[in-house]
Amino acid sequence: MLDVNDTAQADDYVDPVTSDPRTFAAKVNSWVPHDIVLKDAWFPLAHSIAVTKKPVRRAVYSQPFFLWREGEKAVAAEFHPAEDVKTAKSEYSDAAGRYPVIEKYGYVWGWFGNPANASPEHIPSLPYLPEDGGLPKHMLGTVRFDCTAPLSLENLIDLTHADFLHADVVGDEKMDKETVEVFHDSETITMVRTCKNKSVAPIMKMFGGVKDDVQQVRQVIRIYLRSHAAIAYGRFDPGDNVQLFHPCVPETRDRTRLDYAMNTSNVKKTNPFRYMMPKASYKVSRQDSSMTSPQSPRYMQPEKRKDLHSPLDEAGQKYRVLMMALAERQAKGDFAYRDNVSADCSEIIGYQKP
Ligand SMILES: [Fe+2]
Repeated sequence: MLDVNDTAQADDYVDPVTSDPRTFAAKVNSWVPHDIVLKDAWFPLAHSIAVTKKPVRRAVYSQPFFLWREGEKAVAAEFHPAEDVKTAKSEYSDAAGRYPVIEKYGYVWGWFGNPANASPEHIPSLPYLPEDGGLPKHMLGTVRFDCTAPLSLENLIDLTHADFLHADVVGDEKMDKETVEVFHDSETITMVRTCKNKSVAPIMKMFGGVKDDVQQVRQVIRIYLRSHAAIAYGRFDPGDNVQLFHPCVPETRDRTRLDYAMNTSNVKKTNPFRYMMPKASYKVSRQDSSMTSPQSPRYMQPEKRKDLHSPLDEAGQKYRVLMMALAERQAKGDFAYRDNVSADCSEIIGYQKP
């Protein structure tokens, strides 16, 4: 095993995105999302309010995570507390079978990986979620996808899909001008899409009090690669900003759990949008699932047909290559974080504080 603090290893790092374009293209096309298993990451396993004295079961790549509270404190363990187990079953827990656990942003986060490497600085920065949690229940929800988690995230970061798949919720593709910018480091990828005079989101017309036909839109998707968790932040003018946290926990390699939080406390209390928008996730996720659930198992079939991603899908392609680079590093025993994921990303996402 390499020491995670071994800087000689770190100095060998080549940015997989800016390296040779032919290598990049070959990587993009060899992508099998189910092959990627990343360790040494915090996963938002449950909303804090879902964790009580009574244990609940979650999983990361089928590794069981039982969550409960001892007093106020959240606990995560490999086994149900009623089980007569005295010692650890796997290398992911301490000798007593317990995982590192942290409560932040209204979630209980469990560490999947070497417990010795768990550190609060590896919790992703989520600027618009209150650090101590406490969002009302109507801003929280849970959906599941019969789909491998990286495919859900790849679908999300190509936001142009929303114009077609979610047109009846967030508006269609009609606009005067669109720009897409993509930023990355070794642990994150961020896509910023700016739309000029875009058709107003129907949900904002129906519930948000927007009377105009077009609006100026700026949408950001920022993915924390290892934690499989995304920030989805939208600024709408006229209209209210949408502040969604969109984690995709890989319960198994084929199944994803999304305990989302949409903070609409920026929206006036008299505006129904504040209550309706978080619920729209149930409709939107069914639309996404109709695409990704049939697509997911196709990666498991031996076929020669090419993976038909669009060459315009810059963010999706970079996402693939960055995930593969992390997996390759981990295969060589390098689990170190080269970039800090917990540093405040407000500026990167263009977050407008209320
Ligand atoms: Fe979608």
